[in-house]
Amino acid sequence: METEQRYLTIALTKGRLASKTMSILEKTGITCEEMKNPDSRKLIFTNEELKLRFFLAKGPDVPTYVEYGAADIGVVGRDTILEEQRKLYEVLDLGFGKCTMCVCGPESARKYLSGQELIRVATKYPRIAKDYFYNQKNQTVEIIKLNGSIELAPIVGLSEVIVDIVETGSTLRENGLVVLEEICPLSARVVVNQVSMRMENERIMKLLNDLNQVVLKG
Ligand code: PRP
Repeated sequence: METEQRYLTIALTKGRLASKTMSILEKTGITCEEMKNPDSRKLIFTNEELKLRFFLAKGPDVPTYVEYGAADIGVVGRDTILEEQRKLYEVLDLGFGKCTMCVCGPESARKYLSGQELIRVATKYPRIAKDYFYNQKNQTVEIIKLNGSIELAPIVGLSEVIVDIVETGSTLRENGLVVLEEICPLSARVVVNQVSMRMENERIMKLLNDLNQVVLKG
């Protein structure tokens, strides 16, 4: 007797990443009409026909849902994956949401990065900042965790530099700051729960292959 197929659950990062992901999924034939209503406050959506379930979460929570298996698959920025350090498989670069993790500050702060000065670094990404300064640059720094508008920190004297995402560079420009060093490139990635990868391998691989085809076509 055939057992009923279970839902495959996909965690999406609320906001621009989710809309972009849905438009890529649509090109693979996966749609979710319910999700298109911009006024809706709903968090979970299903595609009954394909036995798929989507939910919208805050970026830093997506790797958590995936590690614990509450979602089989997640779509999230590489910045969040590096910062959260969850046990999961990072399997596909979706090629959108491209930006760079950088050390930024006023031009006058460049001199603090070549020596062993104990400077303050403000960031939303303390793990990434710590790994960069301690392990790659061998520079001991004080890391100050902030939750947004990071560019403020060097302007008001909270820190000498910041570690933050730069996309177009306009936030830096409009606030008189510059990129001092590049840490790594970032983009949206697909992550998969380690158990789901074994248990639902066929369905997940099919989905990943379809997504990859769309990505390759650009
Ligand atoms: C991000 C990032 C920068 C800005 C970079 O902030 O932290 O501030 O975008 O983009 P740009 O190079 O195109 O100007 P976000 O808008 O996510 O808000 P936040 O300040 O609350 O983190």
